[in-house]
Amino acid sequence: MSSANRSNNVGGALVSRPSPHNDRSQIRNRPFVIATFAMTADGKVTTKNFGPVDFTSREDKLHLFRQRAVADAVLLGHTSLERDNVRLGVPAELQELRIKRGQSRSPIRVIVSNKGRIDDRLKIFQFGISPIIIFSTKRMPPKNQEALRKTATLHLTNTTEVDLAAMLKTLRNQYNVRTVACEGGPTLFRSLLEQGFIDQLNLTIAPYMFGGGKAPTLTGLSKEFLPASVHCWLVEMHTVGNECFLTYRIKHQRRRRSSTGSPRND
Ligand SMILES: NC(=O)c1ccc[n+]([C@@H]2O[C@H](COP(=O)([O-])OP(=O)(O)OC[C@H]3O[C@@H](n4cnc5c(N)ncnc54)[C@H](OP(=O)(O)O)[C@@H]3O)[C@@H](O)[C@H]2O)c1
Repeated sequence: MSSANRSNNVGGALVSRPSPHNDRSQIRNRPFVIATFAMTADGKVTTKNFGPVDFTSREDKLHLFRQRAVADAVLLGHTSLERDNVRLGVPAELQELRIKRGQSRSPIRVIVSNKGRIDDRLKIFQFGISPIIIFSTKRMPPKNQEALRKTATLHLTNTTEVDLAAMLKTLRNQYNVRTVACEGGPTLFRSLLEQGFIDQLNLTIAPYMFGGGKAPTLTGLSKEFLPASVHCWLVEMHTVGNECFLTYRIKHQRRRRSSTGSPRND
């Protein structure tokens, strides 16, 4: 097993943690981004109604907390924040482990939204457990800006969409974030993946099948192929009960171009 395969026992169970790896040395000026998802045996990450994830075990929820707890920042797309209405905190025992490691008690919480119509009554804004940073655009209505500024720091650009490269650079340089735990959702994950910003994927396969053309997969609902296929290394796999926990490192490849000049999906 390579160094990338090492696991650490944090809070009682196996958890893969960022470790020195060739990939890391290729990353310049941005944090290492680890995405964590659960999907059904037929590849769905939610139902057609985009309800909160309730198809995984307690062990999987702990797995998500452990991944969150090793990061400097936790990142979530607006729809997942709204649908799941999460605080994005970590349990007390994992907070203590963070302190021992020299980290802050809880990771900073980062939200991404293009339109910026974020409801300041969501749970996350009621709990001051760590700073909240919102990356959005000036499309955010002034009333939302005013309300959100009471509990969060806003980074608003003049563009119609958030520049994810600039966001990651800001997190690294301005907030000293070295590791990001991306918790989705699929739309945000796909954008990050397409731009080569996902370095590791932790994937739980849950023993269910949902079916449904309108139930999103890991890469969302888009009918389009990814611009280029993404290659992964499987660096860890273990099972607990009926669930399978996988850890992939993403191979960062130079994009090959087709004869038309567009990136190739091979
Ligand atoms: N199974 C799992 O592990 C898992 C994990 C996470 C989420 N989910 C589920 O996934 C569902 C949500 O899916 P989703 O794909 O709609 O969620 P999402 O990616 O969390 O949210 C999409 C929204 O986030 C913002 N966003 C996404 N990408 C962006 C980008 N590149 N730049 C700027 N803003 C961006 C936009 O917000 P605005 O519309 O405000 O512009 C966009 O509409 C929920 O049901 C949730 O429970 C499942």
